[in-house]
Amino acid sequence: MTRRTVRIAMNGVTGRMGYRQHLVRSILAIREQGGLDLGDGEVVWPEPVLVGRRAHALEELAERHGLTEWSTDLDAVLADDSVEIYFDAQVTSARVEAIKKAIAAGKHVYTEKPTATDVEGALDLARLARDAGIKHGVVQDKIFLPGLRKLKRLIDGGFFGEILSVRGEFGYWVFEGDWQAAQRPSWNYRAEDGGGIVVDMFPHWEYVLHELFGQVTSVTAHVRTHVPQRWDEQGKPYEATADDAAYGIFELAGGAVAQINSSWTVRVNRDELVEFQVDGTHGSAVAGLRNCRVQHRSSTPKPVWNPDLPVTESFRDQWQEIPDNQEFDNGFKAQWELFLRHVVQGAPYTWDLLAGARGVQLAELGLKSSAEGRRFDIPELTL
Ligand SMILES: NC(=O)c1ccc[n+]([C@@H]2O[C@H](COP(=O)([O-])OP(=O)(O)OC[C@H]3O[C@@H](n4cnc5c(N)ncnc54)[C@H](O)[C@@H]3O)[C@@H](O)[C@H]2O)c1
Repeated sequence: MTRRTVRIAMNGVTGRMGYRQHLVRSILAIREQGGLDLGDGEVVWPEPVLVGRRAHALEELAERHGLTEWSTDLDAVLADDSVEIYFDAQVTSARVEAIKKAIAAGKHVYTEKPTATDVEGALDLARLARDAGIKHGVVQDKIFLPGLRKLKRLIDGGFFGEILSVRGEFGYWVFEGDWQAAQRPSWNYRAEDGGGIVVDMFPHWEYVLHELFGQVTSVTAHVRTHVPQRWDEQGKPYEATADDAAYGIFELAGGAVAQINSSWTVRVNRDELVEFQVDGTHGSAVAGLRNCRVQHRSSTPKPVWNPDLPVTESFRDQWQEIPDNQEFDNGFKAQWELFLRHVVQGAPYTWDLLAGARGVQLAELGLKSSAEGRRFDIPELTL
């Protein structure tokens, strides 16, 4: 076995996503399993170089995990020829500038979504990356979730017949921060800082719908800020200028219709924090983060509407759980491994900056749809 070290500048690793999902659950987890075995006698060994603004936070983090390399000087790290990949999990508003620098320095780029706060910015990054000939990828973790992979398995197996509709329900109550601390960062609720549930979640819905059911061809959205005042990390009140709920309708190539509610102002009465119900001519499924249950046409009951009689059957119990049938790794780690293979071996990889721009485009047109009270067709993006 030969070991191929790949040095990765990881920016934003003190944040929620950068630390937990990308550093600990992905890069350090790959190291704990002995590296990424390419199957040809070579093992990829990811070597993170932690990058951020606060030296003491980086130093403490590096020490906690036995890492030695960290820096508050992004330019110096990018000037280091031994660093091959730049990874970005910073706040969204800081992303475009940093990625542009990384592309100019000839690094391969892997980044959290959304890649930019507007579609022009997102396309600009995709063009710069193409022209520089670097490899690039955007986090699209939801399609690697066990529940959605089981759903994909059902689609590929022809379970649904013709797929008619998809209904998605995402959300949970995010505390305002006054009498109980908020469980999400305050910038998420300020539009001027790149916040808002549309910019955050529509990029996810774009690739989930596109990969599973067909490209999104139109969007109609109604967007609200239900909670107008929140309290920040320092306990100071601030005006919530960003949307905290979005009610969207998406038409899909192939004819199906998707409706997805996204909300940080809803209390959970579901089995999982996100669930998608898919109804097809031959069967239906409800998929969440981990689980997926189905009802085939042959076992579909025949309810008759009669409000005078009490319900005599448990509709929920009439569904059947789909078994795992395989091991599901952490979705972020699974996607990191594919990206590392793409960088080292040139393996195909479709979740790139152009795919990321499609997500930003859907968010932008969703917001426009809400502001103007109109439905918008989604033009195909080209570089
Ligand atoms: N893929 C997913 O499921 C998913 C989920 C949540 C968030 N995200 C994305 O990940 C990114 C980070 O989100 P998060 O929830 O981890 O945020 P966070 O606030 O917890 O972390 C943000 C990171 O950016 C750094 N940063 C750089 N410049 C900053 C600035 N000017 N102000 C404040 N912080 C700055 C912070 O130090 C921190 O390391 C966002 O782009 C978000 O859209 C993705």
